[in-house]
Amino acid sequence: MTDKHTVLFIGRGQTYDDLKLYLQNLKEIELHHEDVAAVEEMKNGHSDILMIEYAKNHENTCGLLEELCARYPDCILLLMAPQKPGPEQLMQYMKCGVRDIVTPDDNLEAFLQKAVALIHRRSEAGRPGAGRLGRVLCFFSSKGGVGKTFLAVSAGRVLGQSPERRTVLVDFDLQFGDMDLYLDANSPRTIGELFEEVRNNGDRLSDFILDSHVHPVTPTLHLLSAPLSPEKAESIQSGSVVQLIKALKKRYDFVVLDAGGVLNDIALAAFDKADRIFLVVNGEIASIKNAGQTFQLLKKLNYDETRIDFVVNAVSETFPLDEGTLMKILTRKPVARIPASARVRESINQGYNLVLKKPEDPAVRGIREFCGKIAADFNVRLDLRDRPSGFWGRLFKAGAA
Ligand SMILES: Nc1ncnc2c1ncn2[C@@H]1O[C@H](COP(=O)(O)OP(=O)(O)O)[C@@H](O)[C@H]1O
Ligand SMILES: [Mg+2]
Repeated sequence: MTDKHTVLFIGRGQTYDDLKLYLQNLKEIELHHEDVAAVEEMKNGHSDILMIEYAKNHENTCGLLEELCARYPDCILLLMAPQKPGPEQLMQYMKCGVRDIVTPDDNLEAFLQKAVALIHRRSEAGRPGAGRLGRVLCFFSSKGGVGKTFLAVSAGRVLGQSPERRTVLVDFDLQFGDMDLYLDANSPRTIGELFEEVRNNGDRLSDFILDSHVHPVTPTLHLLSAPLSPEKAESIQSGSVVQLIKALKKRYDFVVLDAGGVLNDIALAAFDKADRIFLVVNGEIASIKNAGQTFQLLKKLNYDETRIDFVVNAVSETFPLDEGTLMKILTRKPVARIPASARVRESINQGYNLVLKKPEDPAVRGIREFCGKIAADFNVRLDLRDRPSGFWGRLFKAGAA
């Protein structure tokens, strides 16, 4: 059985009649016509789509849209404008929560089909078990240089290879994050600007703000990079971090966080929302000791210990501890051991994608195995082959050089 969806049209009677004609074959859409005053009578969640015909002037329209969007956050807001808005107006409409705009020059039918697709997509996402997986993986170590950024980025690259899965990397090493360097991605719009816009938007994180700040590394791997200068990290609050992760969970299958190296409010907020916290250690005794201490501290802070795992990175023959001593310090077996490889540094310095360019590299194999465990853990099917095939594969290959 098809679910019914309601479109509430606010505007002229003539336009309403046109709309009715277009929608007559779409039995799952129920169209209603109201004037602006009748909106007052609406109950929350009454409609799936609010379709607004441009009111008298731009300012009035923005005021109305803002009000509607705040009052009915679950509705999809569409605007019919008499002419193409300029870039600034467009920006304002988007900030008011408008998802799409149609003008008389546009093809109304195509626009309506898009609107219907939007409702369908939303109702898909609303079904239990459907929509994005929203799994949050967090990499942390209080010791610098152990490989958390390398692991987060590489895991993101492997997870982001599956065409049907969307992955976002978020750099919460707010002062000195360098995920963008690892990905050779230059994005002027960072997490700093994102939070600034959220503040200017009455603390509302809209899809538009989110989409305009993530950088598409590939179609299925996006990046939200750290602020370009360390002082911009100062104003970021842990509450905003929670709000951001919640929003990302709805839009991505995997949200991979580089939580940096400081155990502060930001890192704890990331831990709060994380499905897995990976404490990264390398062959330095100090990193192993610190990770053991962090684990104990997180347990004291009542973090569910089943969500915490150790990952040993850069494992070589010169690894300083035997298995027994490692277990004594960490108190549990690491979930993964990633071999050391000279190519890791080379790939970072030369800006190439190690995962794709050197799939046979031992460190890359280790990362793929690690991602296989993550997938099994979450009971998710992933494409973990060396090289993805088909359209996405070609795109990845094109981006690998
Ligand atoms: N598996 C590995 N094998 C060899 N070198 C590695 C490996 N992982 C990381 N490195 C090296 O360690 C350095 C620090 O890694 P990075 O991920 O930036 O650490 P962190 O984010 O913990 O500060 C990198 O520049 C890289 O050269
Ligand atoms: Mg780092």
